[in-house]
Amino acid sequence: MSQMITVLGATGSIGKSTLDVLARHTDDYQVFALTANTQVDALLQQCIEHRPQYAVMVDEKCAVQLRAKIALSDLTTEVLSGVDALCQVSSASEVDQVMAAIVGAAGLLPTLSAARAGKRVLLANKEALVMSGQLFMEAIKDNNALLLPIDSEHNAIFQSLPVNFKDDPIARKQVRNILLTASGGPFRGWTHEQLQRVTPAQAVKHPNWSMGQKISVDSASLMNKGLELIEACWLFDVKAKQIEVLVHPESIVHSMVQYVDGSVLAQMGNPDMRTPIAYGLAWPNRIESGVASLDFLTHSQLNFEPPNHDVFPALNLSRQAFDAGGTAAAILNAANEVAVAAFLREQIPFTAITDLVDAALNGCEFETADNIEVILAADSSARRFVQEKITAWT
Ligand SMILES: NC(=O)c1ccc[n+]([C@@H]2O[C@H](COP(=O)([O-])OP(=O)(O)OC[C@H]3O[C@@H](n4cnc5c(N)ncnc54)[C@H](OP(=O)(O)O)[C@@H]3O)[C@@H](O)[C@H]2O)c1
Repeated sequence: MSQMITVLGATGSIGKSTLDVLARHTDDYQVFALTANTQVDALLQQCIEHRPQYAVMVDEKCAVQLRAKIALSDLTTEVLSGVDALCQVSSASEVDQVMAAIVGAAGLLPTLSAARAGKRVLLANKEALVMSGQLFMEAIKDNNALLLPIDSEHNAIFQSLPVNFKDDPIARKQVRNILLTASGGPFRGWTHEQLQRVTPAQAVKHPNWSMGQKISVDSASLMNKGLELIEACWLFDVKAKQIEVLVHPESIVHSMVQYVDGSVLAQMGNPDMRTPIAYGLAWPNRIESGVASLDFLTHSQLNFEPPNHDVFPALNLSRQAFDAGGTAAAILNAANEVAVAAFLREQIPFTAITDLVDAALNGCEFETADNIEVILAADSSARRFVQEKITAWT
C-alpha cells in the first residue's frame, strides 16, 4: 500500500528535492498535502504535478489567489490557509509521513503536531528541534512517532551509529565520539575584517550545496553548524562535548562516528539532499534518489581542518546555549533568525549576526522550556530584543 505524505515547505529547496524523489516512486507514495508561505504559482505548479488533496498557503491573501487558480483547473485540491491548517495537514489520520521542511521557527507548531499525531517525521527543519528539544523529543516518544533526520550530517550520523544506540547501554559504550563535518562555507579562511564587508550575494553563494537563503547565510557564519550541534545532541541523546566539529571543504564525508576500537564509520556521497531524503522516506530500505554515484577519482582529495572559533563564534555560542538549557537555544535561534533577515536586507554587517546572538544570550532571561507557551514567549522576546538593537543601529 502506498504511503501518504505531507510536505511542509514544498516550494523550498528541500521541498522541491522531496517532490523530485517522490516523482520517481509514484506507486509507493501519494502526496496528501503541500504547503507554502507566499509562492502561489510555484505551489500551483506542484499541485498540478502531484495532485494533493490539500494545499496550504500560510498567507490568507495568497490562499485566495491559489483557490481562484485551482478553480480554473481540473484539480480537486482543497486550499486552506493559516498555521492551524499546517497543523491539520501534518496530523491528519490519512497521513503516514511528514516532511518538515519549513524554514525557521515557523515550522515548530506543524512539526510538533506531526510528532504528537505519531507520524514518521522527516526532520529538515532543525530550528524546530533546536527551539523545543526536550518537549519535541518527548512528543516523539510519548506518541510512538518515528523521527528520522534529513539534515545530511545527522542522516550520516544516524547511518553510522550502532542500531539502537539511544536505548542500548552496550551500544552507547562502543562509541567514542561523533565527528560532525562542516564545509566551512564561502568564507572559510577569511579574517574578521574581511567578513565585515561581505554582501548578502556573497554569503548565499555556498561552494557545494544549493539551499534556501537563510540556511546559506547560516552556513557562511557557521551558525548552521551550531544549530546542527544542538540538533545532534537532542537527536542522539549526547552531550555537546561528545561532538567534535571538523571542517571538510569538499562536503563528501557527511559526518562520522568514531568507535572505541579506533574504527571510524563515515557516510559519504555527492552533496545532494535527495540522498538523505530518499533514505528517510524509505528507511529501513533504500530507494533510487536520482543522485549520481560518487566518483572517487574526481574527488581524490578529502581535506579536514579545525574550525576557526575566533573568526566564527557561532559554534561556541551554540555550545553555550545548549549547555545552559531551558529556553537558551530558542533565544539563540530567534536572535539569529532576526539578525540574518536584517543582514539579507542590508541593514547590518555580516559580523553583527553573531554579535546580536551573543547580546541576546546575555540580555534575555532563560527559563525552563517544558511547555510550548514558554518556548514561544522566549522566541518572541528574543526577536523584540534583537529588533530593538537593529532599529537603534539603523
Ligand atoms: N536546503 C538544504 O539543502 C537544507 C539542508 C539541510 C537542512 N535544511 C533545513 O530545511 C529547512 C528548509 O530549508 P530550505 O533551504 O528548503 O528553505 P527554503 O528554500 O527557504 O524554503 C522554505 C520553505 O518554507 C516556506 N516558508 C517560509 N516561511 C514560512 C512561514 N512563515 N510559514 C510557513 N512556511 C514558510 C517557504 O514557502 P514560500 O516558498 O512560499 O516562501 C518554503 O516552502 C530549514 O530548516 C533548513 O535549515 C535545508
